[in-house]
Amino acid sequence: MKLTRRDILKAAGALGVAAAIPGCGDDDAPANPDGGTPDAGPPDAGPPDGGPPPPSGPFRHGVASGDPLADAVILWTRVTPEDPATAGDVVVQWELASDTAFATIVTSGMFTTNAARDFTVKVEATGLSAASTYYYRFTALSETSVIGRTKTAPTGSVAHLRFAVAACASYAHGYYLGYRGIGARLDLDAVLFLGDYIYEYGNGEYGSTRAADPTTECLTLSDYRRRYACHRLDADLREAHRQHPWITTWDDHEVADNSWSGGAENHQPEEGSYADRKAAGQQAYSEWLPLRDQTDRAKIWRSFGYGNLADIIVLDSRHWARDEQATGVDDPTLASPTRQLLGADQEAWLTERLTTSTAQWKLVAQQVVMSPFALFFNTDAWDGYPAARTRLFDVLETNALDDVVVLTGDIHMSIAGDLARNPTVPAEYDPLTGAGSLAVELVAPGISSPGLTRGIAMAQESLIRANAPQAKGWNLWQRGYFVLDLTPARAQGDWFLVPDVIRPTGAEAFGFGVSTATGANHLVAEDTPVPSGAGAPAAP
Ligand SMILES: [Fe+2]
Repeated sequence: MKLTRRDILKAAGALGVAAAIPGCGDDDAPANPDGGTPDAGPPDAGPPDGGPPPPSGPFRHGVASGDPLADAVILWTRVTPEDPATAGDVVVQWELASDTAFATIVTSGMFTTNAARDFTVKVEATGLSAASTYYYRFTALSETSVIGRTKTAPTGSVAHLRFAVAACASYAHGYYLGYRGIGARLDLDAVLFLGDYIYEYGNGEYGSTRAADPTTECLTLSDYRRRYACHRLDADLREAHRQHPWITTWDDHEVADNSWSGGAENHQPEEGSYADRKAAGQQAYSEWLPLRDQTDRAKIWRSFGYGNLADIIVLDSRHWARDEQATGVDDPTLASPTRQLLGADQEAWLTERLTTSTAQWKLVAQQVVMSPFALFFNTDAWDGYPAARTRLFDVLETNALDDVVVLTGDIHMSIAGDLARNPTVPAEYDPLTGAGSLAVELVAPGISSPGLTRGIAMAQESLIRANAPQAKGWNLWQRGYFVLDLTPARAQGDWFLVPDVIRPTGAEAFGFGVSTATGANHLVAEDTPVPSGAGAPAAP
């Protein structure tokens, strides 16, 4: 979703936007405070103010890895031929080593790419050891890529895991300082990304700090491919991919705002077939993100095991089978018991994953807010699909499942809370003890997409205190990400936030923390973050 038009206009006003707007690849070019005409320019345009040149060469879009298993990981890059129209097939060599100097090559191979897949490269390195850091690189067109660093999942008894959790990275709204913070951390097992990796809007429609390519709204396969390419020229995003494996899911903006399985609020009939647009967005996603493709590239719900400490269950509550959003809180269709958010097949699979998991922590990585918030009733979130939410809560309760942690994106606000069926009914939920809470929910802020303005956020905070007793930590206006730190004894979320994203520099700071003890299903506030560890050496 994006916030209401009124909220956005207020947020945009607070940004004081002015522009000779830097475009794709101008990562370190400051926004020009003297104003000017927004101009995206071509994606490889040089920075307007003498900053470093944008990346060039065949591997300008960097390297990435993802979907780690105990013995395998997906490796990704993209080659940019001098003349894509005449390039034909490009053969790319890949190598994976156990050391940064590539003295010990563990596995290697060749991959042929071409225009049919936008010159993207995706291979699976197999036969790897569990819980191990590896380094990888690609060679093609007489050049070698930067070196990437990745890590396989552990097996057996696991004492500690650490993930960064992020969502919602509107390029147009500003700089990716959150990605910069993630890329600088070396002690993460993986990055969990909960959707809105891109936004489909044309320039000026949603944010005007940076100009994306293409300048117009993404509708076609070519449009979506160019939008991903634009994002991957950002140095901070490239570095966050280069240093960590990512486990990703999509939200609405990978196709169009407030999408459901058969349409989207931001799709009009004159824009063509929604089915074609959705297929185009999903194809570009598959090409540009380092996820393991399934037979049907539209099916991205899948799960990952991290030994006995965590199972990660990744959902698609957006495009797979969601029924159309209700028109409002009074819409009679809201009460329908057959209303679907996940679809019967995905819902049955989720139940099976939850009830058969033998891991301590069951992480449910998904898109939209699950907790009932009367204050922010949202037809686009689980609020709008109450029967589906009740069925999931029934699964948690009837199976006496403990230690389920729901990870959420979508709303560009940081909120941590208990998950109770009726959090404002004292007989059903006690905010002091957590009695009545079935699980906990941790909501990631936008990397760059706006929440509320600071002033509105401050006013809302007093309303949260009064009306949302399940919330144990929040920040409704800053951008960033959180670190999820797991041990057999507790799960802790630590939010790292930046004051704004309209300048290309700015330090992150600890915002707030929460934790839940094993078996508690209830959050308490934490004053200090879990200390960072050393981690394996950075990719050089
Ligand atoms: Fe978003």
